[in-house]
Amino acid sequence: MKYTIVLPLIAAVTLCSAPVLSAESDWKRGRIYYRSVCTSCHVAMPIGSINPSTKSKAEWATYLKSDKHAKGKDTVSQYVSKAYRASIKSANKAAEKFADIPDQEMAADLDAFLQKGAKDGDAPASCS
Ligand code: HEC
Repeated sequence: MKYTIVLPLIAAVTLCSAPVLSAESDWKRGRIYYRSVCTSCHVAMPIGSINPSTKSKAEWATYLKSDKHAKGKDTVSQYVSKAYRASIKSANKAAEKFADIPDQEMAADLDAFLQKGAKDGDAPASCS
């Protein structure tokens, strides 16, 4: 009885999370991170919010790879790091929620979201 419910569920979850970019990247988590951590600072700064659709996939890829943020004053990876999440988690729910995610995994999620949300990115796949 139990299995008739559980097995189809496992199958559905497995299918829905089928890797598009890599087994670890989760664009939805990247989206939460971008909106909650990156954007929350941008909106408080003169630059204002930065839409992922302002850059192409290739531009985002180059941007993340060069790892120069704010015109080279600091790095993007610093804002994805566990250390940064720890420093803001008392005031930032996403940083708190993702506190223990390894840096590389968090960076891969952000990358996946920016690739999806880019000017020439795919429409988000629906699983519902
Ligand atoms: C603590 C504040 C803060 C956080 C957190 C932050 N940014 Fe920024 N970001 C800035 C500021 C300030 C600028 C504008 C710098 C300038 O124009 O001199 C900027 C600029 C940018 C730009 C425009 C190009 C550039 O680098 O100048 C991009 C793209 C960007 N940020 C992406 C991100 C991403 C992705 C994250 C999250 C991983 C992030 N930022 C997190 C403050 C922040």
